Amino acid sequence: MTPASPAAKRTIDFRNHHHLLLEWYASHRRDLPWRRTRSPYRILISEIMLQQTQVARVTLYYRDWLRLFPSFRALAAASKRDVLQAWSGLGYNSRALRLQSLARIVADQQRGRLPADTILLQQLPGIGKYTAHALGCFAFGLSLPVVDVNARRILTRLFSKVTAADEMLDEKCAWEIAASILPRDAAYDWNQALMDLGAGTCTAVNPVCDACPFTDRCSSSHLPVLRLRSVRTPRKEPSFHGVPRRIVRGNILKILHAQSREVAELRSSLSVRLRRHELLAVLSAMQRDGLIEVRKLRGRILVSIASS
Ligand code: ADE
Repeated sequence: MTPASPAAKRTIDFRNHHHLLLEWYASHRRDLPWRRTRSPYRILISEIMLQQTQVARVTLYYRDWLRLFPSFRALAAASKRDVLQAWSGLGYNSRALRLQSLARIVADQQRGRLPADTILLQQLPGIGKYTAHALGCFAFGLSLPVVDVNARRILTRLFSKVTAADEMLDEKCAWEIAASILPRDAAYDWNQALMDLGAGTCTAVNPVCDACPFTDRCSSSHLPVLRLRSVRTPRKEPSFHGVPRRIVRGNILKILHAQSREVAELRSSLSVRLRRHELLAVLSAMQRDGLIEVRKLRGRILVSIASS
């Protein structure tokens, strides 16, 4: 990502344009389950699931999760095994364990309630600035900007004439602009609207500028470069014989959910062929992340899913 020129002014009077996005949102909003609640727990679950997982997949898991673990206390009391089982298929399983560590802190030390304060929220495991602001705005009704990658892309295009589809304002600048244009009395709808606009209209490649409420106001509207996929080589994921490591880790957990396995057995059950030392390296990282337990038993190495 190339940083966009900081030419965009950080204090922008956008009051006359708020209605464009808010009116668009009133007729285009997606009906998503986490928009029907203001429960901090439920909103946190959605936000953590939505990190690196698509909306469509999250909606498949969200309700079942809440049925199994309806509160911080219920999640805190569950076994790691049950938590990992419920998360299985969402990917990046360490997120589930961090969520449970958070639930245990909130249940044990905060009487089962999240603080309505973005600084305190960021002291909890797995919560960074984005999630703290999302909770502040969506659950606690605070008038705060919420800048995810979609919002950042929209703000970049809106306020600077981009030279590539993937150009992005630097993060600090994006937060400053987002704060300066936020309609203080409609922060919830505004932030959710930016997410919807980024998901279906101001998309990463081939945005639909004709359908955008900001089309007459946007510095990058209809620019030909927006139609070009960037030639930037994607960040290379660690992988084994073409299969990303995170998929191998998911595959291992799936096998272990059924039963504990000896290393050789596990190796032959995997859908990708790993050398023994490669498998041992993956297992030792998974053990460090708290996802699995590895025990030596009469000269054999037995691997099981984390239990408590
Ligand atoms: N991604 C992260 N939070 C979201 C939300 N509240 N709605 C849609 N997509 C999201």
